[in-house]
Amino acid sequence: MTPAARLQAAIEVLDEVIASARDDGPPADTIVTRYFKHRRYAGSKDRRAVRELVFRAIRRSAERAANGRAAIVGLTQDEPEFVELFGQPRGPEPLVDGEDAAPAATIPEWIKPELSPLVAEPEWPALLERAPLDLRVNVARSSRDELLPQFENATPTPLSPWGIRLPPDSRVDDHPAFAAGLVEVQDEGSQLIALACEPHDRDKILDLCAGAGGKALALAAAAPGATILATDSNRARLSKLPPRAARAAAVIEPRLLNPPAELDELADWREAADLVLVDAPCSGSGTWRRNPEGRWRLTPERLDRLIGTQKRLLGIAAELVKPGGRMVYAVCSLLSREGAGQIAAFLDSHSSWISEDPAIAGGRSDGAGRLLTPGHDGTDGFFVARLKRAC
Ligand SMILES: C[S@@+](CC[C@H](N)C(=O)[O-])C[C@H]1O[C@@H](n2cnc3c(N)ncnc32)[C@H](O)[C@@H]1O
Repeated sequence: MTPAARLQAAIEVLDEVIASARDDGPPADTIVTRYFKHRRYAGSKDRRAVRELVFRAIRRSAERAANGRAAIVGLTQDEPEFVELFGQPRGPEPLVDGEDAAPAATIPEWIKPELSPLVAEPEWPALLERAPLDLRVNVARSSRDELLPQFENATPTPLSPWGIRLPPDSRVDDHPAFAAGLVEVQDEGSQLIALACEPHDRDKILDLCAGAGGKALALAAAAPGATILATDSNRARLSKLPPRAARAAAVIEPRLLNPPAELDELADWREAADLVLVDAPCSGSGTWRRNPEGRWRLTPERLDRLIGTQKRLLGIAAELVKPGGRMVYAVCSLLSREGAGQIAAFLDSHSSWISEDPAIAGGRSDGAGRLLTPGHDGTDGFFVARLKRAC
């Protein structure tokens, strides 16, 4: 493909990404892959170049662009050499007068006042920087010292004792250690959430919002003798857990929940858990460096809905923890209402609960919890709080 044809392809992909962000469709990564499935003429260099253009255009645009063309026109501000590709054969239509690049911006205006006060403006660019690829060593079956030399350009993650850091866009799915279940892909921030749980071998642990089981797998590796139930309301996500658990040789029971009947479906776990992890659905504002189009998906209405769901899930979790037991609440968010604000409201209305400092490296105190941020900690952004129920 010529440079002009790549630019046109990026415009077409971005049109789909914009529609998908509006309609809650698949993420940009999936759209890029799908776009090339039926375009056999594109080689791997073309695919990589188009993907790169698409993500650069998304990163520089805080608000959802009007269309793919407007998003790509934005790139001409930083890369004026793109201007001459407009109007070339197989390239985009020529630029017209007044079709100027919008200035680059990191954070949508309406979200700025929602950010935790800890996330000050100098930190904003880090929210969109390309993230490294972090691996978590399955410490039940191997060690970081043993595995680190098996990966090229690998360094130990500075905060998690379980992590190996590789450069952005590294691939590991064909690495023997991955196939053998000795490592999983997991951001260091997620590893720290599992560390904040301090799981013990005889614990009964419920991972209430387990998704595809990333954190449940980390808990199982850290405490192989624990009983772990992993629940989620999304069948497709939860169905990814059993094969991952099999690869890791971890014992985790999955259970699909059907809101609003979660508490009935968890009747056998009422006041029974030593630990409930609530890794709640959230804005994802801590993971924009991986999913920059997450900024285009979020709306004030969506945020309000998410905050309502988080509150509901905290209420459910509180019923499942035994007296003297603990709950860890986490969101991959940098927004106060989803983090410190949510926990302040919970503690206000649940007098038999107190907060404890989650004993993890990194992060800064934010209300009753800790906030990890890309700028301060080099991890995805997370709020985490550890709560204890009175005996
Ligand atoms: C942040 S994700 C979890 C990620 C996962 N813990 C991991 O480490 O990969 C939040 C999850 O909450 C789930 N969820 C949303 N509403 C729920 C509910 N009412 N009960 C259980 N899970 C729910 C979503 O399907 C989603 O998978």
